[in-house]
Amino acid sequence: MTFSRRDILKTTGAGLSMLALPPVQAQGTPQRGTPLKLRASAFSQAVRPGMRTDVWGFNGSVPGPVLRFRRGDTARIAVTNELPGKATTTVHWHGIRLANAMDGVPHVTQEPIPNGRTFDYEFTLPDAGTFWYHPHQHSFEQVARGLYGTLIVEEDKPLPVDRELVWVLSDFKLLPNGRQVSDFGRLADFGGGGRLGNVFTLNGRETGPDNSLEVRRGERLRVRLVNTATARIFLLDFRGQKPLIVAYDGQPVDPHPLPQGLLLLGPGQRTDVILDIDGSPGQSFPVIDRRDKGYQLGALVVSSKPAVRARPLAAPAALPRNALPEPDLGKLEEHYIVFEGGLLGKPAIGLLDGKPHKLPDIIREQGLSWTMNYQAEHEHALMHTPLFRFRRGQHIALKMINETEFEHPMHLHGHSFRVLRVNGRPTQFSEWRDTVMLGPRATVDVAFVADNPGEWMFHCHILEHAAGGMMGTVTVE
Ligand code: C2O
Ligand code: CU
Repeated sequence: MTFSRRDILKTTGAGLSMLALPPVQAQGTPQRGTPLKLRASAFSQAVRPGMRTDVWGFNGSVPGPVLRFRRGDTARIAVTNELPGKATTTVHWHGIRLANAMDGVPHVTQEPIPNGRTFDYEFTLPDAGTFWYHPHQHSFEQVARGLYGTLIVEEDKPLPVDRELVWVLSDFKLLPNGRQVSDFGRLADFGGGGRLGNVFTLNGRETGPDNSLEVRRGERLRVRLVNTATARIFLLDFRGQKPLIVAYDGQPVDPHPLPQGLLLLGPGQRTDVILDIDGSPGQSFPVIDRRDKGYQLGALVVSSKPAVRARPLAAPAALPRNALPEPDLGKLEEHYIVFEGGLLGKPAIGLLDGKPHKLPDIIREQGLSWTMNYQAEHEHALMHTPLFRFRRGQHIALKMINETEFEHPMHLHGHSFRVLRVNGRPTQFSEWRDTVMLGPRATVDVAFVADNPGEWMFHCHILEHAAGGMMGTVTVE
């Protein structure tokens, strides 16, 4: 009953459509210690059937290859920039608690990689889980064009499942002829809800009601969902099926059903679910996005083949925990961060170069729409004035207060944090995360041990918001 590569190859063959793993994932598990190569370049891909879309991606595909490692491995990944024009880039390994110098943040942890050049990343992988990678340079454009991929660190003893799937959810903004709209950097997106695509994608291909995945009765699936969209929030309804969440942002959590029956996946977030397929032959179970007018992303269709097993499996065990430093709730030092701004609500005042400005007045010249603790700053500019300075080993409570009318998936680099309270109410699981959804006018309290030295980004993962000022750093010294 263990997950076998041959099964994946079989089931991604003819007759199945895009919900299955794309062929690039059949390239196999990278060998331990083998330097991997990621090449960022422009090419075209059939995002919509029968149409070529000009994309940017890694190794000639969107998403880029799934990089697979085992816990404790050292990843060696050479990233070469072959992007068009003078575009410089970096790669950030989202969610991995790595050494600061390998974090891939331009001007903070490294100089951007010039065209034609290679940067060698090397870092160890302390945690098993589902992670991802993407550029941190002009990410609102580079990620939107297709530069992203999944990085999986396997548990020492993987949870036994019949099949494992990776679902990279994203969107593209396409013209009717399939070309990408290149309206990157619009102030309305920076200060509004971000830049939404009009074509939903699953593993880089358009997805919709016709997209069906054949499943078998009694089959146990592990689905690793990754939201790589720059702004789109997914709220998935697995109608008629009962997925159990086993990990958030790569970190195990007690297995539990979808809260209110829905799976909320903000930009940058990951969720691992276990799905024990129930139903009768030929039955079709739609997967629907409740955020976007009930858009159907696809369907799980039960095959007429005999059931995989006679009796249903017992509930899955929890995944083995990673060795994260546990914040001591009695020792927390409290810090606050207030977010203001955006193109709705009353105009916020922010300090820019020490002088108060009305944000709507500076948005046109400066592209700034948001403040963090009353400061307005440019992308990556806060590195000279970190939002917080923590001493190494300090136990930190970070209280986020959203005084805007927008949602913000807030992401901290180099650490995972426990989500303790949302709007003052304790969370059920105190789950570990690296990216947490902060609702409009909401508060979220997180706690963590600042154990990883360096200067770390703390930003909104709506990448247009980050570029519009919701990006700062936290120093651990
Ligand atoms: Cu996924 Cu700072 O990013
Ligand atoms: Cu935001």
